[in-house]
Amino acid sequence: MKFELQHTDPKSNARAGLITTDHGQIETPIFMPVGTLGSVKAVHLHELKEDIKAQIILGNTYHLYLRPGLEVLEAAGGLHKFNGFDRPMLTDSGGFQVFSLSGIRKLKEEGVEFRSHIDGSKHLFTPERVMDIERTIGADIIMAFDECTPGTAEYDYAKKSMELTHRWLDRCMARFNETEPKYGYNQSLFPIVQGCVYPDLRKRSAEYIASKNADGNAIGGLAVGEPTEKMYEMIEVVNEILPADKPRYLMGVGTPVNILEGIERGVDMFDCVMPTRNGRNGMLFTKDGIMNMRNKKWEKDYSPIEADGASYVDTMYSRAYLRHLFHAQELLALQIASIHNLAFYLWLVGEARKHIIAGDFTTWKPAMVKRISTRL
Ligand code: GUN
Repeated sequence: MKFELQHTDPKSNARAGLITTDHGQIETPIFMPVGTLGSVKAVHLHELKEDIKAQIILGNTYHLYLRPGLEVLEAAGGLHKFNGFDRPMLTDSGGFQVFSLSGIRKLKEEGVEFRSHIDGSKHLFTPERVMDIERTIGADIIMAFDECTPGTAEYDYAKKSMELTHRWLDRCMARFNETEPKYGYNQSLFPIVQGCVYPDLRKRSAEYIASKNADGNAIGGLAVGEPTEKMYEMIEVVNEILPADKPRYLMGVGTPVNILEGIERGVDMFDCVMPTRNGRNGMLFTKDGIMNMRNKKWEKDYSPIEADGASYVDTMYSRAYLRHLFHAQELLALQIASIHNLAFYLWLVGEARKHIIAGDFTTWKPAMVKRISTRL
């Protein structure tokens, strides 16, 4: 994998770059739609590639390991072949999902013992095992196995948790370096900074992660219960240390405003379930603010969903019709909302990139933050 820094904003830490993988290029800053089980929920591949213009999507180790399982994925020739998405993919390591989804779990030095949320069966994720699984899934970018420290953790817990993540990283790297990709193209391993809301821990973690000289670096343990201002502060602390010539990935973040704030602070890659999950609940993000499509307000509003929206669904359907679909629990509502929101997120990061390149990012950004924060 290669990262080329194309433009750096003179007035902020925002950057525009180009990541090159064996499955193609990614223009940064970028948003990665979440495809937990290898599918971006309610979105066809054609829409994902041609309309939303997704350049990279994300899959989850925890979910894919449980279903369909490694045997099926390996026989398919990896996830790209299995789901047909021939552009870059990234897999999260399970370091987040094991904690948020599996009921009973035991955290040990060796790894995490957990029970499947599907059938209660018992499993053990160690750093070595997770590397083997991510090799088998076959994403272009694979994440190290970490403990995602909750945003409300006490200092002592956060410190121990961060140190465990660092020891697990060493084991991940050792296993990664002694194994080969399975399908003939390269994979890059990204380590993850932890340290909760404590600047000294974040600094130590970023220094440790930076010293590993990985192809790219991630910031984890944010948007997990801490105040938003703390999140921004931690991004600033960490990005002062993470190398500028490698992509920086802020995991699981966030709202459109969070993303613009992250870009301004030097983040290049984002993922979040918000556009799809909130979309399925009727929340639409638009250039002029947030709409709850279930509201009575839209009952007889026959105007387009968004007149100058980023996707064809915006002018193909009216607000009144989409509201009706949500109330009638029609599946089409979920499809329209998911396509609309993802197209908006991809549009937003694309605009940010254009303005970084044009040199007016710092005047464009506050106006856009104000515009998209309105409740319609
Ligand atoms: N997704 C959101 N936050 C995190 C994190 O801290 N670690 C991992 N592995 N995934 C995440």
